[in-house]
Parts: sequence; structure tokens; C-alpha cells
Amino acid sequence: MLIIVAAATDKLNHMSRYNIFNQVHKALRAMLYDTSLTLQQTWFADREEAESALRQVNKVLNIFDAHARHEDDFVLPAIAQYEPSLVDAFEQEHEQDHLMSESLRGLMLVYRHAMKAGVKIETGDAINRAFTEFMIFNLQHMNREETILNKVLWRYYSDAELLALNQQIVASIPPGEISESSTWMMRGLNNAEIIAWLKAVEKNAPQQALTGLLNLAESELPAERYQKVQESLTEGMQIL
Ligand SMILES: [Fe+2]
Repeated sequence: MLIIVAAATDKLNHMSRYNIFNQVHKALRAMLYDTSLTLQQTWFADREEAESALRQVNKVLNIFDAHARHEDDFVLPAIAQYEPSLVDAFEQEHEQDHLMSESLRGLMLVYRHAMKAGVKIETGDAINRAFTEFMIFNLQHMNREETILNKVLWRYYSDAELLALNQQIVASIPPGEISESSTWMMRGLNNAEIIAWLKAVEKNAPQQALTGLLNLAESELPAERYQKVQESLTEGMQIL
């Protein structure tokens, strides 16, 4: 629910057309950057420290797998009748992505079986390198989706139709995944996007949804950014 109304606001900010990928891709990129930094700060000889980093890697892999499934199930079928070869190419990228996450899962298993400090450190290095490759692949993949796939979506669909498609995707996502995504959206979006998101929620969803997101904004944003967001919401209310 929260994401549906949020997505509707993406075009207000900077796009002349509605970018169906914007909000979720910003959340995914924030996860990649954050996890990548965590990994390079982790001393893998310390199992406890490593486990906390590996749990985060695992979350990222699961969320990317789920995201690829949403696109395979909803976005690519919308394009299939117009650009079948493009759909093939993107499906192949999603498979390649899945193989990369499987090899990362394999390396994490190796780490969990390692006894000697030297092996743990070496495996940690391998996990760092594999995660970097996973990140680079996905950053490029998301860029291609936002340029190549958007061009096709914008040619054949109106913004209203793309919003409806996004609504279908959101309706299919379990609440746990929605709440995790909302946290990373809050961490990954700029102020204008967050303000538009919260204003749309204020207009279209129950009050408790807005309160929940404001609490999330307060805990996730630096104080000065949170203040701007809050002020801008209050201004909006005065105008209304
Ligand atoms: Fe994507």
C-alpha cells in the first residue's frame, strides 16, 4: 500500500514519465553500497563479526532474487509481445544474477565450515570479491532496465497503466518484504522523493501508515533531513 502511492509520485520529482523502477532500485542500490562497505570493514578471523556481515549478504541475495522474480512475473511479460528478444536478454541476465548469488551462498557455506583463521580470512576475501562482482553486475543491470526497458514501457504504456502494473506487483509482495523495502527506500531516496512519498501516503492511506513512515524517517534520516521532511509535510497541510 505504502509503495503503491509512493510510486505514483516519482514522476512529480524529475521524470517526465513515470519510472516504475526508481523507488525500488534506489532501495536496492542503498543495500548494495551499505553491505559492500560492511564487508570490507569485516575482520573475517572473528566469526561473530563475520556472521553479522554474512547475514546482511544473505538478506541482499534474497531480496535481489525476489526482485528479479517480480520483474520476470510482471514487467517482462508486459514487454514480451512487443520486444521478445529483449525479454530473452533480460531473463538471461536474471539467470546470470541468480548464478552469482548461488556462488556467493556457496562461499558463505565454505566460510561457515572453515576452522583455521587463515582459511577464514581467505574465504572472507573471496566473499568480498564475489560481492563486488554481484554489485557491479546489478548496478549495470538496473541501469539497463531504467534506460532500455523504460524506453519500451513508455512507448507502449501510459503512466496510469504503469502505475497499475506497479500496484499489481506490490499487491503480490508479502508484508515482511514490503517493510524491509520501505526501510531501504527511506535510506536510498532523496528528500524530494521522500516528501512526495509521504504526501501521497497522507492523501491515500490511513493515518497510521503516515505515522509509521514518519517514525521510519525519524530513525533512518539524519536530524536535519528529517526536519526538512517534517516541515514540508506541515506546509502541505497548511495549504490544504
Ligand atoms: Fe530491477
